Amino acid sequence: MELFYRVSLQEIVADALSLVEERELSSKHALERVFRKVAGNDREKARGLAHAYVFEIEKWRGKIDFIINSILRGSTVEDLDPYLANLLRIGTFEIHFRKVPPAVATDSIIRVVKERFDLSRARFVNALMRSIEGFDVERALKKLKERDRIGWLSVRFSHPRWYVEYAIDLLGYDEAVKLLLSNNRPQRYYVRANTLKTDVDSLRDYLEENGVRTALTPVPDVLKVLEYRKPVTRLEWYREGKFVIQDLASAYVAHVLNPEPGERVLDLAAAPGSKTFHAAALMENRGEIVAVDYSYDRLMRMREKMKLLGIENVKLVHADGQSFRDGEGFDRVILDAPCSSSGTYRQFPEVKWRFNEDKIRKIISVQRNMLRNAYENLRDGGEMTYSTCSIRIDEDEENVLFALEKVGLELVKHDFGWGDRGFLEIGDWVFRTWTHRHDCNGFFIAKLRKA
Ligand SMILES: C[S@@+](CC[C@H](N)C(=O)[O-])C[C@H]1O[C@@H](n2cnc3c(N)ncnc32)[C@H](O)[C@@H]1O
Repeated sequence: MELFYRVSLQEIVADALSLVEERELSSKHALERVFRKVAGNDREKARGLAHAYVFEIEKWRGKIDFIINSILRGSTVEDLDPYLANLLRIGTFEIHFRKVPPAVATDSIIRVVKERFDLSRARFVNALMRSIEGFDVERALKKLKERDRIGWLSVRFSHPRWYVEYAIDLLGYDEAVKLLLSNNRPQRYYVRANTLKTDVDSLRDYLEENGVRTALTPVPDVLKVLEYRKPVTRLEWYREGKFVIQDLASAYVAHVLNPEPGERVLDLAAAPGSKTFHAAALMENRGEIVAVDYSYDRLMRMREKMKLLGIENVKLVHADGQSFRDGEGFDRVILDAPCSSSGTYRQFPEVKWRFNEDKIRKIISVQRNMLRNAYENLRDGGEMTYSTCSIRIDEDEENVLFALEKVGLELVKHDFGWGDRGFLEIGDWVFRTWTHRHDCNGFFIAKLRKA
């Protein structure tokens, strides 16, 4: 489909997929960048379609790559030029998932290959696409199931193999399958009332009047969106900053931390700012929050959002959360650490393909440095939350044990009230959510104190 002057949907999607991979952007941000360069009458309609393509291709990439690799035999899609690989993924997705007529799907990507590469590559892709078209996915999956059950789960539900193994170890086979299924369901939305501008009851009434049915949640200022006529981001109150979209478990962190108006709070990994903004609201804009992040772009986006939300007590600092120091010390610290994001596959399917064991080891080392640094910044008696959106014990409970045994922090025996408890000897005193059990991101929270 030719949507714009000389730019096809396939090119837009391939560009966005390449940005997701090379720059590690989310699907949404990658598309925002690509669309800056796109003009034409159907721009908005195309944006929705392109988003659906990128999101679904990232979600099903494990299965799509299985199909392509079965045809390539010997080499893999990863060995190809990355842009060409993404075009093949688009073609495979269109044929096997969207049931686009194969000739149309093949023709659309061959045109891009001819433009961006050369004729010989176009012939190569054309031959591959013919084999992909005739590939019997169900038969191949049946064979795989007979010889490698983990591999089969990994392809069938399109998750990395390490994740499938990890989930089975943690939850057992049957429940792990429920988690995989749940990760592939549509995202559940939650909205948090910005209590600097409104309250949760008024928000609920307003949403109801505007065709959005909601339910109360265990987090007092958060509502679960059950049904809507138009996306909540198109509503006036969203544009006025009266509410934000925030995952349920993520919005629990500030309540667990419970900062008081007038206190000094440090957020060591603050961007894009959900927890900073929430803490500012609970502090009624009084006291000070120092929000540190090492991504300048993300901090700048936070600045814009703060204006909209009416937040006035946050100082943004572009620094490394592993070494940032402040002479005065803080009453509270939020450490929402960078992590494998393995609890967020339903929301951000692209992160499934971003982490391997080596990268996870490196991020655990950053998390531990940040825990040490949180301790240094806390005043005596000060409290902190350590949270991640990872399901992994090595990023969660094991790091808390590290904080207790090697850093000198104490575990606060917080009464969490909802969610699940965790693993290891501290399991009764930490908080976990699971996508299939709690209908939100997989999340971990522990509360700690500097004695
Ligand atoms: C899980 S996200 C934080 C989400 C945020 N707390 C919120 O609620 O919106 C992790 C953040 O850590 C930042 N980050 C990663 N390494 C960092 C470091 N060494 N120092 C500071 N920030 C870092 C990333 O840029 C990212 O914004």
